[in-house]
Amino acid sequence: MPSLLMRWLVGTVYFIVGAFWSVIVVISFAWYVIFKKGVKGLLKKSPETAAPKLALDKYEHDFVRVKSGMKFHCVHSGSRSNPLMLCLHGFPECWYSYHYIMDHFSENYHVVSFDMRGYGESDSPKGVGQYHLDYLATDARDLIVALGYEKAVIISHDWGGAAGWKVPDYYPEVVDKLIVMNAPHAKGFQNFTKDYPSQLLKSWYMFMYQLPYLAEFLISAYDYKVIQSFFRGRSFGIRNVSKQLSDSELEMYKHTIRKNLTCPVNYYRAANPIYSGLNLKPKSAKITVPVLVIWGKKDTALDYRCVPYFEKHCTNFTAVYIEGASHWVAIDEPEKVHEAIEQFLKS
Ligand SMILES: *[C@@H]1O[C@H](CO)[C@@H](O)[C@H](O)[C@H]1NC(C)=O
Ligand SMILES: *[C@@H]1O[C@H](CO)[C@@H](O)[C@H](O)[C@H]1NC(C)=O
Ligand SMILES: *[C@@H]1O[C@H](CO)[C@@H](O)[C@H](O)[C@H]1NC(C)=O
Ligand SMILES: *[C@@H]1O[C@H](CO)[C@@H](O)[C@H](O)[C@H]1NC(C)=O
Repeated sequence: MPSLLMRWLVGTVYFIVGAFWSVIVVISFAWYVIFKKGVKGLLKKSPETAAPKLALDKYEHDFVRVKSGMKFHCVHSGSRSNPLMLCLHGFPECWYSYHYIMDHFSENYHVVSFDMRGYGESDSPKGVGQYHLDYLATDARDLIVALGYEKAVIISHDWGGAAGWKVPDYYPEVVDKLIVMNAPHAKGFQNFTKDYPSQLLKSWYMFMYQLPYLAEFLISAYDYKVIQSFFRGRSFGIRNVSKQLSDSELEMYKHTIRKNLTCPVNYYRAANPIYSGLNLKPKSAKITVPVLVIWGKKDTALDYRCVPYFEKHCTNFTAVYIEGASHWVAIDEPEKVHEAIEQFLKS
């Protein structure tokens, strides 16, 4: 079976590249610990906390069990008689990332944001292979059905976006329209990296996360300090000064990741081709539901020039670029993002 051999070969290359980056990262991290930050606090972990109150009171929360047996923590806004808008969050986030969208679209939609598998209050199955995109896309389909709908508008970002791209591939019947923010279409992105190999350098952490334990150690060091730099850091963080996360908002994400960090990191590991997921196949060569891609142009991990490469994989494709916005485009520029989504949903 040449394709199986190929998957193992490519998978092994992922590990080798990952090992290479890990050596560099370990050396620079050791330098940081020894000469800058000090070993004090390196292994400190605050105990697991209750979710900050800001997140609990405003919306209706419940648990939804789907037909695979998985149970998801769902958060609702808008009337349940409205059409469904299902939100898929990224790493290292949780349902809360969509609170602007939940507020804005609640008049016309039943907006449901949920903790994806492995995150927060939702079930976290054992094993890296359980975090393959096939499972994530199937979770979205199962939730749409379990919530009592035939179709949904899907809004997705980062790893949620990678899963979002797969839902109309595998389950076009449940998708009304797809919105993806700062998340690559797999095949389009492959083609893009052929033309712009420098993107592979920007994706170094994808490879480093392949190795067991190391990502968990680095991310949890100094009581999950890096979570703060993801959102507040000068290069990757939210750029809009008026939209910086408050301490209690940051605590939402830390709270989630403290519960279980391995499962979220397993999303990266399960992207290794040695994992075959559910062996799902796209229903058609191209995505046939309307697709809107929204891209914050100042994303330092995902170059906006990849977006045109996605178009040939869709029959009905629109791209909206948000100038000056970071990877966290829906937090940086909610008004512009909502406007783009509204236009798209109206058309
Ligand atoms: C995270 O979840 C996985 C899978 O359920 C489990 O094996 C692991 O022990 C959990 N880790 C922590 C720190 O709870
Ligand atoms: C790769 O991208 C180029 C430029 O957009 C396009 O012409 C070509 O068809 C693409 N190939 C694949 C396999 O996606
Ligand atoms: C920042 O957020 C505010 C409030 O949402 C918005 O009016 C503004 O356009 C955003 N962008 C910048 C660059 O400040
Ligand atoms: C693309 O989808 C929109 C709905 O978002 C629809 O109005 C438009 O007619 C579609 N275009 C084509 C070429 O099918």
